[in-house]
This record gives sequence, C-alpha cells and structure tokens, in this order.
Amino acid sequence: MLCLGAVGLSAVLQGCSSSNYFAKTQLDAKRIAVKKSEFVFVDGEKTKQRKYILVRLDQSEFPICLYKHSETEYSALLMYCTHKGCELLAQGEYLVCPCHGSEFNNRGKVLNPPADQDLQQFKTIVDNENIYIQL
Ligand code: FES
Repeated sequence: MLCLGAVGLSAVLQGCSSSNYFAKTQLDAKRIAVKKSEFVFVDGEKTKQRKYILVRLDQSEFPICLYKHSETEYSALLMYCTHKGCELLAQGEYLVCPCHGSEFNNRGKVLNPPADQDLQQFKTIVDNENIYIQL
C-alpha cells in the first residue's frame, strides 16, 4: 500500500510544546528509527512526556502516529481513515476523522463509525534507545 522506497524521510520539527510534534527519523532499509528521547520535552522547568508523535514520510501522503503505551510498548498507526481515506487528526488518546467523524483509539481500534475497520498498524521493536517501525 505504501510506496516508501529508499528515499530519506523528512524531518519536520514543530514547536516543542505542540501536541503535533513531528519526529526526526532515519530510514534503515524497511525500518524507521525514532529515538525514545523524541517523546520527552521540557515545559518550563518540568520534563514531560508526549503521548504520541507523528512521523511524516516523503513517499506517503499519510503520516504515522506513534503512540507510547509504556517504555516497551508502542503503537504505530497509519493516519488513513478506513472509511473513505481521509487523513486522521490526532486528538490525545484517540484519532478522529475530519470527513465523517469516525474515531479510533490509540491502538487503532474503531470507536465510532462510519468506519468499520481498524487502522493499519505497523509492527514496532524497541531497544534501549530507539523505537523501530517495520514498514
Ligand atoms: S473518510 Fe473518515 S469517516 Fe469517512
């Protein structure tokens, strides 16, 4: 479905306090490596954790939303609505479709129709430093 090729990924960095934070990524064959530290940001004098980060791909019009459930568990969800193909919006712990209102939880399961199929999910592997998304 996705034609990701071997072209480098864009690394778009938005404001650190934004909820829509785009990770810096690296392409390793069929994997994206996202540093765990991308989930950490400083708010004033406090260090906080993002619930999710977005990964934009040069070869796909749809980004991946990477949710953190724990230090070792993540969900990588394609932000492509399974109803009619609109790009989803991340809203904290869930994703919403601006076209007809479908909602999905942070593991890609349908919460509200009209979509009736879960989101495409990519396998993730975690080591001490990175989350690897298998494309
Ligand atoms: S395209 Fe997403 S709800 Fe219709």
